[in-house]
Amino acid sequence: MEMTLETMERHWMPFTANRDFKRDPRLFIRASGMYYWSTGERKILDGSSGLFTTAAGHCRPEIADAVARQLQTLDFTPSFMRGHPGAFALADGVAELTPVGLDHVFFCNSGSEAVDTAMKIAMAYHLARKEAQRTYFVSRERAYHGVNVGGTALSGMVRNREAFGALLPGVLHLRHTLLPENRFSRGMGATGAELAEDLLRFVNLVGERRIAAVFVEPIAGSTGVIVPPKGYLERLREICDKYGILLVFDEVICGFGRTGEAFAASSFGVTPDIITMAKALTNGAQPMGAVAVRDHIYRTIVDGAPEGATEFFHGYTYSAHPAACAAGLATLEIYRKENLFAKGRELSPYFQDAMFALQDLGVVADVRGYGMLAGVEVKPGAAPGVRGTELQAKLFDRGLHVKTTGDVAIIAPALIATRAEVDLLTSILRDCLGDY
Ligand SMILES: Cc1ncc(COP(=O)(O)O)c(C=O)c1O
Repeated sequence: MEMTLETMERHWMPFTANRDFKRDPRLFIRASGMYYWSTGERKILDGSSGLFTTAAGHCRPEIADAVARQLQTLDFTPSFMRGHPGAFALADGVAELTPVGLDHVFFCNSGSEAVDTAMKIAMAYHLARKEAQRTYFVSRERAYHGVNVGGTALSGMVRNREAFGALLPGVLHLRHTLLPENRFSRGMGATGAELAEDLLRFVNLVGERRIAAVFVEPIAGSTGVIVPPKGYLERLREICDKYGILLVFDEVICGFGRTGEAFAASSFGVTPDIITMAKALTNGAQPMGAVAVRDHIYRTIVDGAPEGATEFFHGYTYSAHPAACAAGLATLEIYRKENLFAKGRELSPYFQDAMFALQDLGVVADVRGYGMLAGVEVKPGAAPGVRGTELQAKLFDRGLHVKTTGDVAIIAPALIATRAEVDLLTSILRDCLGDY
């Protein structure tokens, strides 16, 4: 197909300035390891692991072969009342990585579906324990929980909400934890744990037994990397325990080594009741999401139903798709064999040093980071977000792919990155930021 402005209009691109993109397309045509190639064989360093997906680097033959083999053996299995061995093997592999006790895994196809699934699990759980009056959900300002109806309602990013009105009533938002006094703090900020007390305010506002679950990203990623202040997650956990509220960690970005452990729950030493995940579960090679839940949640829902009856009326045609399971299993094997979570943990101080060193540039308003995730915020230009959009285009043109949100560049190299690749990434960033 000839790529003209007119033919390109047929693809309505998601989260994209369509008119802008189609006038000046930035296409990827292949990828390998830490790099993409754009048209004209231009090599582009991947500074955001695709979209926080590709933790083991691009085009891993182990994953491609496993998917190809699977598609030639068993291409599709209905996921209702039927199964295939790969689904059970992958659930087992995921449960090995989640904190002790979160041993039951429900599969879906994306992070957004994982979030909406987790909301329904929370409601089904409370119904099964005769607490169906728990109809409120709590999330946080500046949160991103995907784009399905539930996740959009939980979301705390104004542009993602404003066109869609009040999708769900009964969602309360905790204040975000991006505090000016924590600017340029490396890791967890010293102040802000008290912001968790907002949850107590909501308990006092709507009633002690009215909140079903609290959703937080341990590190808010898509909004521009907000690392939780010291003591904040612990305090949320305490309040949830006291009032019978489920704590959900949305680890769609944090999961699979980004914070140095398999999950941020382990890095931060706080165990939620439910973890949502996607992205690096299959190294981005197949669409897949999952929800891991504590044993008592699974048991309450499953054992609460009559014998022989379906216990949870939820699922997707492509839940536990055989090709996605094959990709997931091959991905987990790479993480294990190459010790990639430990590798990321070892590279993290070097990476964070490089990111925090950028604060000497006048245009840099803040740097935040933890593990192999960092946010570099620039001072706004003519309007908020204009400079961030300009920056990602400029970085691309100089050979670096980075995801930006507003005026924050979100840097998340694959866990296979070398120091030399961190140096290259930093030098391109410094070069572009130095233009301002
Ligand atoms: C924390 C979080 N939750 C949910 C999602 C949605 O995932 P998906 O785009 O796979 O639906 C994302 C995507 O970036 C995310 O960062």
